[in-house]
Amino acid sequence: MRLSYHISGAHVLQPHGDYGIMAHMKILVVGSGGREHAITWRLAQDETKHELYCAPGNAGTAALATNLAIGAEDVAGIAAWAGENRPDLVVVGPEAPLCKGLVDVLSDMGVKAFGPCAAGARMEGSKRFAKEVMNAAGVPTGKAQTFTDADAAKAALPAYGLPVVIKADGLAAGKGVVVAETTAQAEAAIEDMLVASKFGAAGAEVLVEEFLDGEECSILALVDGENAVLLPGSQDHKRAFDGDKGPNTGGMGAYSPAPVVTPAMMPGIKEKIILPVVRELKKRGIEYRGVLYAGLMVTPPGGKTALSGSSINVVEFNARFGDPETEVVLPRLAGNFAKILMSCAEGRLEEADVVVKDEMAATVIVASGGYPGSYAKGKTITGLADAAGVPGAIVFHCGTKAQDGQIVTAGGRVLSVTGLGPDLRTAVDTAYAAAGKISFDGAFRRSDIAHRAFDRR
Ligand code: AMP
Ligand code: GLY
Repeated sequence: MRLSYHISGAHVLQPHGDYGIMAHMKILVVGSGGREHAITWRLAQDETKHELYCAPGNAGTAALATNLAIGAEDVAGIAAWAGENRPDLVVVGPEAPLCKGLVDVLSDMGVKAFGPCAAGARMEGSKRFAKEVMNAAGVPTGKAQTFTDADAAKAALPAYGLPVVIKADGLAAGKGVVVAETTAQAEAAIEDMLVASKFGAAGAEVLVEEFLDGEECSILALVDGENAVLLPGSQDHKRAFDGDKGPNTGGMGAYSPAPVVTPAMMPGIKEKIILPVVRELKKRGIEYRGVLYAGLMVTPPGGKTALSGSSINVVEFNARFGDPETEVVLPRLAGNFAKILMSCAEGRLEEADVVVKDEMAATVIVASGGYPGSYAKGKTITGLADAAGVPGAIVFHCGTKAQDGQIVTAGGRVLSVTGLGPDLRTAVDTAYAAAGKISFDGAFRRSDIAHRAFDRR
């Protein structure tokens, strides 16, 4: 496989090898967010025109694909559609259907799918399992212990110092992690999860984990069971408000590349983090195919490194593309995207040609007032066409739907407005110029996307 960086702004590069003779494909994208719109959009950029479907999709994907009235977690519904329609490939966006075994069901039917089997998706679905795999593979990560008993968990706290991190083992919609500044906060988090069952079964086991100091970044690796190609790094903005204040969200914006992870660090991340995990899973009988997303903490020189002694540590793994990372990473990829995803699904990534354009990208999320708490839906969105008309801008829909000839809000994160440019400043300015044309009642967004990259200078 090749990962090359191309000095060109061209959207479609010359195909290499057998890329040019690819027939068009029938592809189903599962999911309804900005990530799935970006995946669908990138597939639609391929030189070979594909027949695209989304389950269920949103108002943005409707312009590129046929939206199906099947929910992303409706494994039986998706399988039934795939059985009748025999797509060439199913690309699974979110973690829930992966953890529910959608890829296993499709594989049994002989339908090719991009995404790990349920056993592989446990890298995201169970933080205890992910730690176990990382420890067995010698992958640097925060030291942690797992508990089902609250008193035992509390008794372990002094060994970790402060701050300390308390995590629910299972999927908790991004809310199962508490970075506790005091012992009282840590004990309250343990009580919430193990005694009050705040996260149900997801919190029936908790991890007490070492706090890692530094700056986070996201590495999306394409994995075919054996080989891996790392896509360019990106950085997400998890807090709701400027200056990284306010509650945690699914992500309020992102940019790529992120200077915290330099090109010189990429081979080490591949050899010491991604591939050891892939091999350890294989040893356990799990062929991991799809995206292995490593959330990394990079400790700056002179900072306090983890107990592992490493300055790059894994905070978490996800079993899918990140959202909104996808909205900045995919627009930077050249080549035939369908072919790349298919190579991954078929375990022959060595034939894939992943080319990264030298354009940089930034995306800003336009959210509904109140998000990540409760918010209103059904607000009319205006200015979408004007925004899309800004040169270098792409408007991805996250939570939208068409209603009475208008496009209305249908989620907390409503739009992900991406800007591309020869440098990060231009990319950010383009994203904001486009986002500024969009309005709906209660809309809000952060105004400081990529501040960490600019602060470094
Ligand atoms: P996760 O759900 O594992 O992605 O955790 C959510 C967020 O909590 C991460 O993006 C980090 O910002 C923070 N976090 C998780 N684990 C740690 C850790 N060991 N040290 C510092 N921050 C952490
Ligand atoms: N943006 C964080 C995630 O996708 O998990």
